[in-house]
Amino acid sequence: MRAISLQQDEFELIAGYIYNHCGIMLDETKVPLVESRLGDLVTRNNCDSYLQLYQKAQMNTPLAESLVDAITTNETSFFRDSKVFESLLMHLFEGYLDKSNRINMWSAACSFGQEPYTIAMVLKELINDLLRVQIQITCTDISTEALTYASKGIYTDFEMNRGLSMLRQNRHFQKNGDGRYKINDDVRSLVHFRPFNLLKPKPLPHLYDIVLCRNVAIYFDTATKQQIFDHIANQMVDGGCLIIGSSEMLIGISTRFERRDWNGIIYYQKVA
Ligand SMILES: C[S@@+](CC[C@H](N)C(=O)[O-])C[C@H]1O[C@@H](n2cnc3c(N)ncnc32)[C@H](O)[C@@H]1O
Repeated sequence: MRAISLQQDEFELIAGYIYNHCGIMLDETKVPLVESRLGDLVTRNNCDSYLQLYQKAQMNTPLAESLVDAITTNETSFFRDSKVFESLLMHLFEGYLDKSNRINMWSAACSFGQEPYTIAMVLKELINDLLRVQIQITCTDISTEALTYASKGIYTDFEMNRGLSMLRQNRHFQKNGDGRYKINDDVRSLVHFRPFNLLKPKPLPHLYDIVLCRNVAIYFDTATKQQIFDHIANQMVDGGCLIIGSSEMLIGISTRFERRDWNGIIYYQKVA
């Protein structure tokens, strides 16, 4: 069968749609990436061109979701940038729990769930009796495929061995019978998944004390970053803490946060 190639005008159409829908910028260097990531969808949907795939997706919501799923980069792992969880979050949790028995958290681009489950494991290790505190971790992502996977809380050997010590594997997971590992219910019960597009925000159930928005804004331009961090600030309590990726900064992006340094780990505090 003849391989279908992505034409320049088709790339521009798809890149424009992705930018408007989810903020991800695809410049000319991403032509091979778009071609390879969407190639399978073209074939499976019996399309004879990328244009036809794009046109079908405009009239078919599940197909449009698959298109976005295919383009988004969902790279993640347990305890990614481990000092954020082992040092900074421990410190923040101890501060909150000295004052109150309630913490609301938001993992704002949770991908396949490793980030929020890492938070939940750290909390479980800090507070053995989780019933004595009210903890909610709202986990959101634009990718429905990632959220479906995350909500099952079941991971492969490969995923388990990226960031999880043997001690934590044994403490927080059970063998699932199919060679994979399922997270324990006490940890699972702290997290709640829902679809959410950072570019088209809808109100969430809480004002959050701690928000993690890591390794997603790197795909956005400055105007989009300004817009999403402004919305995130609106969704936080005054004095709440925002954690972004270790290679990211808020300089020139938002004046609604002040930069803080805990033992060399940077986070941002919402100004009142
Ligand atoms: C590289 S992953 C980061 C996952 C996790 N935060 C971490 O640092 O390991 C980026 C995630 O952002 C999500 N994403 C991309 N654009 C988004 C948008 N407009 N709204 C919400 N999530 C988005 C992707 O689906 C993907 O799961």
